[in-house]
Amino acid sequence: MDMELEALLRPPATRMPPYPAKVITLATGKPMVIRQVDRKAVPALLEVVRPTIKIPRDYYDIVGVRVYAELLGWYRHRVRDHYCLVGQVDGLLVGIVNGRMYTPQIGMSYHTLAIERGLRIGAHLFAAKMEYHIEYLGQDEVWITAESPIGFRRWMIEYNLEPKENAQHELGGASFYVLTRDLWEASKARLCVGDRPVPPELMAVAEREIMVADETAIVEKILGAKRRRVR
Ligand SMILES: CC(C)(COP(=O)(O)OP(=O)(O)OC[C@H]1O[C@@H](n2cnc3c(N)ncnc32)[C@H](O)[C@@H]1OP(=O)(O)O)[C@@H](O)C(=O)NCCC(=O)NCCS
Repeated sequence: MDMELEALLRPPATRMPPYPAKVITLATGKPMVIRQVDRKAVPALLEVVRPTIKIPRDYYDIVGVRVYAELLGWYRHRVRDHYCLVGQVDGLLVGIVNGRMYTPQIGMSYHTLAIERGLRIGAHLFAAKMEYHIEYLGQDEVWITAESPIGFRRWMIEYNLEPKENAQHELGGASFYVLTRDLWEASKARLCVGDRPVPPELMAVAEREIMVADETAIVEKILGAKRRRVR
């Protein structure tokens, strides 16, 4: 690789404070560890995202293909100040959220992808990324757009997000919304849960390996023969 040219193609990296891992007990009683991953995790994450690209149901295809591009862009050093948090149950990857620092004050929320359905895994991961932007990156607001009706219900309605005028979200598309620090303070007790620190034995399982279900299992988990309604 021509590193001289590569240096011109790579964005500079800003030091970003880490997201401290937490554990949430799901409605099944199983603990889900939410933790930040680095670039080394990307090949495993892409394994989970790839099957979603072929699933039109609930807009998994468009969200999946974009997440794939964002993660690959991060892996190849083509996106600036990107982060990724994952949810794991017994080491198995069940959801992904990502975004980036747009400016020191503004967070750009990218995507939320839940592989296990019906347990609010996506909702918990989205709350974790809002927590990261406001509490740990110390940002004043997060810019959020929705690409699916479920996403719109989960973010715009559940957080009562404010419409933003005269600006464009990086993902393009419809008018977007903002989570302000005040909105975060008003909703975090209701929507952001989890305990820290994660017990060392749970953390060890999560960090040992990002386990990935096979393609058939991923499609089945997303399409689900029967819809579960578990809170
Ligand atoms: C949006 C998303 C992250 C939300 O994840 P979540 O909070 O874990 O919620 P689920 O997707 O499991 O459930 C959403 C609804 O569908 C229902 N549902 C449960 N199992 C389901 C299944 N197998 N198939 C379809 N719907 C199901 C749930 O009961 C829930 O109903 P509710 O809104 O009344 O609570 C997730 O649906 C997802 O990854 N969607 C595809 C990508 C996407 O749209 N991302 C957001 C972009 S803005």
